[in-house]
Amino acid sequence: MMGRQEAARRLLPTASQKGLAMEALRALAARRSIRRFKNQPVSREAILRLIDAARLAPTARNVQPWEFIVVTNPNRLRQLAALTDHGKFIADAPVCIVVCSRDTKYYLEDCSAATTNLLLAATALDLGACWVAGDKKAYASQIVSLCGAPPELKLVSLVAVGYPEEIPSPPKRTIEDVLHWETF
Ligand SMILES: Cc1cc2nc3c(=O)[nH]c(=O)nc-3n(C[C@H](O)[C@H](O)[C@H](O)COP(=O)(O)O)c2cc1C
Repeated sequence: MMGRQEAARRLLPTASQKGLAMEALRALAARRSIRRFKNQPVSREAILRLIDAARLAPTARNVQPWEFIVVTNPNRLRQLAALTDHGKFIADAPVCIVVCSRDTKYYLEDCSAATTNLLLAATALDLGACWVAGDKKAYASQIVSLCGAPPELKLVSLVAVGYPEEIPSPPKRTIEDVLHWETF
């Protein structure tokens, strides 16, 4: 049996855990949507780390309905870009990760969480990324088909990834504006 002191000690963060927390918060704060990329390839190891982060996302009832298609072929990147309405910059990205899902009750929430993990992991690796809309888009089924995925899969997002050529600074609502203690 764990004593009370031992239990309390385990709850307190160690110095290294505090460092880890700061790193995680820094990545959250630093993340921006990056739409212009350097002409620099992204290593296979970095891509594997991104997918590893995505597959660990929270998922309702742990169904993990996601599939991740990594596209690096320049011709296919151009074809993906051409199909989207607001993702033409995918053509000039070294990588695009297409996030698809089985049609489960919470597929959108699950795959949105996975997409967010991709974006944050990219930031942590000094990469830049941008979420391009997939779900509800008229082009969704064409993208699923272009990727050679089973037609019943739902497209949730396309994530362009590369080394950032820009760091935009879009306006954000302040904490005072969005925070409501106890009641609205
Ligand atoms: C569901 C969703 C769909 C998005 N679709 C697009 C898109 O199609 N094209 C694009 O350039 N950005 C897209 N974005 C990125 C947003 O434009 C971006 O997150 C927003 O402007 C805030 O900027 P930030 O990500 O740098 O904080 C999308 C983001 C989300 C969450």
